[in-house]
Amino acid sequence: MPKITIIGAGQTGATTAHWIAEKGLADVVLVDVVEGLPQGKALDLTQAMPIVGSDSHVVGTNDYAETAGSEIVIITAGLPRKPGMSRDELLEVNSKIVREAVERSLTASPEAILIVLTNPLDPMAYLAMKVGGLPRGRVLGQAGILDSARMRAFVAMELRVSVQNVHCYVLGGHGDEMVPLTRHSNVAGVPLEQAMPPDRLAAIVERTRKGGGEIVGLLKTGSAFYAPAAALAQMAEAVLLDRHLVVPASVLLEGEYGLRGIFFGVPAQLGRGGLEKIIEYQLSPAERQALEVSAGKVREAIAALKI
Ligand code: APR
Repeated sequence: MPKITIIGAGQTGATTAHWIAEKGLADVVLVDVVEGLPQGKALDLTQAMPIVGSDSHVVGTNDYAETAGSEIVIITAGLPRKPGMSRDELLEVNSKIVREAVERSLTASPEAILIVLTNPLDPMAYLAMKVGGLPRGRVLGQAGILDSARMRAFVAMELRVSVQNVHCYVLGGHGDEMVPLTRHSNVAGVPLEQAMPPDRLAAIVERTRKGGGEIVGLLKTGSAFYAPAAALAQMAEAVLLDRHLVVPASVLLEGEYGLRGIFFGVPAQLGRGGLEKIIEYQLSPAERQALEVSAGKVREAIAALKI
């Protein structure tokens, strides 16, 4: 079995381990600073494997030695948002955590592909690439699958149609300025703009943008984790199985969409080497402008990293 390390055995990290182990995709090493937490969750997951019929091994540790030889390292360590907080307010505290996670995991697994989840997502993915001295193909940020899945879920609920028939694409930074591309989204081939009245579509776009905040507000402590974890597992699977799968993901742009030097959500093809290709949509002037606004926010947050 290939090995996947997950740094941070909190809500998202442990749930990612759950999805990956249940699929039998890889052995999983859960790492956390809290003693006993990764060990306890790993043992619990191990005891679930006979029930779900998977031979994945799950171990928990406070030490990076056991992560050696991982093909993928998923970084979820860090603080989640509190109600009313923006993702950018986590920048300082989570920078330190992500820096340490990258340095220590790459020492143990120098060839690993990194998938970053910790918020604020786009700057944290940028930080991981810089700290690791990695080529852009080896650092992927998870945000777009989640944001698009939120929109897909809302559309499916609105139209009472299977989620499998709903295709939505949310690009841009992982903040409230993200850009749901309604013109490129469709329900069984019917453009979304024809499938529902404009006011309903506008409400879904707004709810998608604030989708993370809605859950933070309901939970009171902590942020969403089931859907973020499912998105991480899908990215890990695309890489490990070399699926050449196109998903919205945060990757370093080098001129694509007219942007350079920032991690930003775009349609990205993922395979064994990580990022294989960026797909460029034809954008309308309004869509381009919305992406520019979102890019400006990401640029500011990356500048605040001071690296
Ligand atoms: N190394 C390893 N683990 C760490 C470190 C560290 N230096 N610092 C903190 N952690 C662990 C915490 O002990 C905790 O178990 O990271 C875990 C984070 O888990 P939760 O608090 O449950 O947070 P979660 O909901 O999983 O969110 C984690 O993902 O979605 C983002 O905004 C969210 O940045 C946050 C991250």
